Amino acid sequence: MSDHKPKFFTRWLFSTNHKDIGTLYLVFSILGGLIGGYLSFMMRMELMDPGMQYFASPHKFSMFASMHGLLMIFFMVMPAVIGGFGNWFVPLMIGAPDMAFPRMNNLSFWLLPVALICLLISMFVPGSPSGNGFAGGWVMYPPLSTSGHPGPAFDFVIIGLLAAGFSSIFGAINFITTIFNMRAPGMTIHKMPLLAWGVLVTSWLLLLSLPVLAASLIMLFTDRNAGTGFFDPSMGGDPVMFQHLFWFFGHPEVYIMVLPAFGIISHIVSTFSRKPIFGYLGMAYAMVAIGVVGFVVWAHHMFTVGMDVDLKAYFMAATMIIAVPTGIKIFSWLATMWGGSIRMTIPMMWAQAFIFMFVIGGVTGVHMASAGLDTSIHDTYYIVSHFHYVLALGAVFAMFAGFTYWFGKMSGYLYNKWLAAAHFWFFFIGVNMIFFPQHFLGLQGMPRRYVDYPAEFAFWNKVSSIGAIVTLVGVILFLIWIIEAFWVKRKAADNYWGEEANTLEWTLSSPPPFHQYEVLPKIK
Ligand code: CU
Repeated sequence: MSDHKPKFFTRWLFSTNHKDIGTLYLVFSILGGLIGGYLSFMMRMELMDPGMQYFASPHKFSMFASMHGLLMIFFMVMPAVIGGFGNWFVPLMIGAPDMAFPRMNNLSFWLLPVALICLLISMFVPGSPSGNGFAGGWVMYPPLSTSGHPGPAFDFVIIGLLAAGFSSIFGAINFITTIFNMRAPGMTIHKMPLLAWGVLVTSWLLLLSLPVLAASLIMLFTDRNAGTGFFDPSMGGDPVMFQHLFWFFGHPEVYIMVLPAFGIISHIVSTFSRKPIFGYLGMAYAMVAIGVVGFVVWAHHMFTVGMDVDLKAYFMAATMIIAVPTGIKIFSWLATMWGGSIRMTIPMMWAQAFIFMFVIGGVTGVHMASAGLDTSIHDTYYIVSHFHYVLALGAVFAMFAGFTYWFGKMSGYLYNKWLAAAHFWFFFIGVNMIFFPQHFLGLQGMPRRYVDYPAEFAFWNKVSSIGAIVTLVGVILFLIWIIEAFWVKRKAADNYWGEEANTLEWTLSSPPPFHQYEVLPKIK
């Protein structure tokens, strides 16, 4: 019986194996995160003190901010939680031999490097009269993204995001088909592990929201290059319509990034509390509810566009309702730990930090869902702080939780837990130092996306920027423990967390065989 593996180039460039494609996604995500992280680190260094330090122009700073947002969302978080962990573990957890469409899976991955290259090129070609690159924010509102950026830079951004969008749409089709059709006998939908539930709901969100983004990007493209006026009032168009279309995608996008993270956290909390997850069905359907309600709250990003007050009241109420299923999840994680025999392993530390910080981000989310309050804090650092608590600290912590939980399963090696713990503590302290003071800056009225600020904002900006240096140490430690683990090659047992880790992937060796559930005969 041979576990036939293709040779290097065939294996990694033409890969149709879900585990190899998952690995490619994870490596790609680390690369995207390092580039996006570099951009934000430079912004924090610039904001260390009032005045202009490192950036030649405000345009360049705004360009860094815009690219940081797009890179972190499309080239770090989404590739990691959906492409990486989804590909690796959904087929294993539901007992499928592979994904339903393995060659489309390969296409999904390879569209991403193409997209990334387009975005990187955009930074070095003319954007607006004030400099190279696109500096209109990741939200890409017209007229700044149309007549405001006449150069080719934003066209590269559009092409890149269309490629990334199609990659995700193909991925979503693949996951939905796999989960609906390829579960092992006995793996009913109500027995399915929560990561598979998270990826299933996320796939529906991707499938329903990304075509809207793609359509609005194409409308921007034709407004710029083909004489249409979808968003141009002088031609009968409406720039606010772009905001509606964008946020119809943009709000579900938040849950696209965080629902798989919820799934990862559920497995880890359950394993290291040595208890089954509390309220399994409630957990699964809370994700469905978040997904459904997440589609009808988008205009809470637009309270200041001059919206009708009744409409504001609706979007405010609908937004606050999301706190209910989210609360179900938080309390179910706490109830899982309650009375459990808790082991504070590295992944459990990441998972508990995730819960702590997701709650902070969730609570400030309820603040700004209030249309009255939002009018005064809109576009301030309060918003920046809020969404970094749910994403940079929430989704990213879940990624580290999943990575430290499954690293042995994926690579076959164990990491040094002291190095991994140092990574955790530097990262945890660093990101909280960066983002907690930004609440204060926001309440003081400091606007986001500005390269300079008056002396009144200096203190908390300094604290925030020092936090970026602490975080950088954490990132370096992360790379070091990965290298150390591959260098030293400590063998991981098949079920190295013990029998509490009880989803299907733990029944296989570490790493799993190339073809997990049947050894395919070699065909001549
Ligand atoms: Cu939103």
